[in-house]
Amino acid sequence: MKNTVILFCALCIAAAMFAGCKKNNALRPEVVLKLAHALDITHPVHKGMVYMAEKVWEKSGGRMKVEIYPSEQLGTEKECIEAIQLGYLAITKTSTAPMEGFVSKMKIFGIPYLFRDSEHFWKALKSPAGKEVLWAGQSKGLRGLCYYDAGARSFYSKKAINSPADLKGMKVRVQNSIMSIKMIQAMGGSPTSIPFGELYTALDQGVVDAAENNPPSFYTSRHYEVCKYYTMDEHTMLPDILVISTRVWNKLTPEFQQILQEAVDESVEYQRKLWAEAEQNDLKTVEKQGVKIIYPDKQPFRDSVKSVWDEFEGTEIGDLIKRIQEVQ
Ligand code: GCU
Repeated sequence: MKNTVILFCALCIAAAMFAGCKKNNALRPEVVLKLAHALDITHPVHKGMVYMAEKVWEKSGGRMKVEIYPSEQLGTEKECIEAIQLGYLAITKTSTAPMEGFVSKMKIFGIPYLFRDSEHFWKALKSPAGKEVLWAGQSKGLRGLCYYDAGARSFYSKKAINSPADLKGMKVRVQNSIMSIKMIQAMGGSPTSIPFGELYTALDQGVVDAAENNPPSFYTSRHYEVCKYYTMDEHTMLPDILVISTRVWNKLTPEFQQILQEAVDESVEYQRKLWAEAEQNDLKTVEKQGVKIIYPDKQPFRDSVKSVWDEFEGTEIGDLIKRIQEVQ
């Protein structure tokens, strides 16, 4: 009797192990897409992408998987864009700012004070002009999948910035972007391009005096530990963008293309909600951590960047400016 029980138990264990193996095999994905980006895992844009990856997995029944590599693990935003072009990396999430160097129409987002507010921003992104810019990199190996909310960018520093006059003589960190350089120069500061992952140390060691970003990035990067003044001048609204390598996209079956695009579109709605919450909460949190939030008169900031607008009159970007302004 005892032997029969032992044999029965052994058979049960073997059966369970076999079932487990079969299940694991069934879940081995046919396609694995690597996605790299620069942000911390607590950032609302990262969380939006995690949601997207979950949707891809669910919708494909485990046949397609998106693996996310945050915090510049696979390189800076510029390096990731280059890897996408070559097809070494499948997907990247980058700010639209470093995309300018590859896709000229992306410069549109670097025009300071282009958008009236968040509603105008989203209407414009969903308008034909917004879609044209999203897909403008396709022939260069950079197929836009969606925009994510990245709010408005404002200055932060160890010293209070109340007007553009305070930027005079300040070294201001900018992204890898000619538009950001032009903007800071127009405002009277000295721009220095530094990758996001190196910025904490650069601020801490005084390599730069100031930087600019949205509240969730200011908070999740912990730059608030070093910079105790945050000036809500909200000079630019640069969306984040999810980009897939055109080569990789073309190799996906139409079914997988559809699953991926659907998952991406659903994640945009989810990410926008996360963003709205994070923006409010993170400002309050940094304030509690001793950051002084300054609400300046924005007019002097607007006036200081007129030359950036003027430069694009009669160009492709000038045209896009008009089309975006017309979006109601
Ligand atoms: C934002 C953006 C990032 C970018 C960063 C930067 O946080 O979401 O993609 O890396 O700005 O200033 O470099």
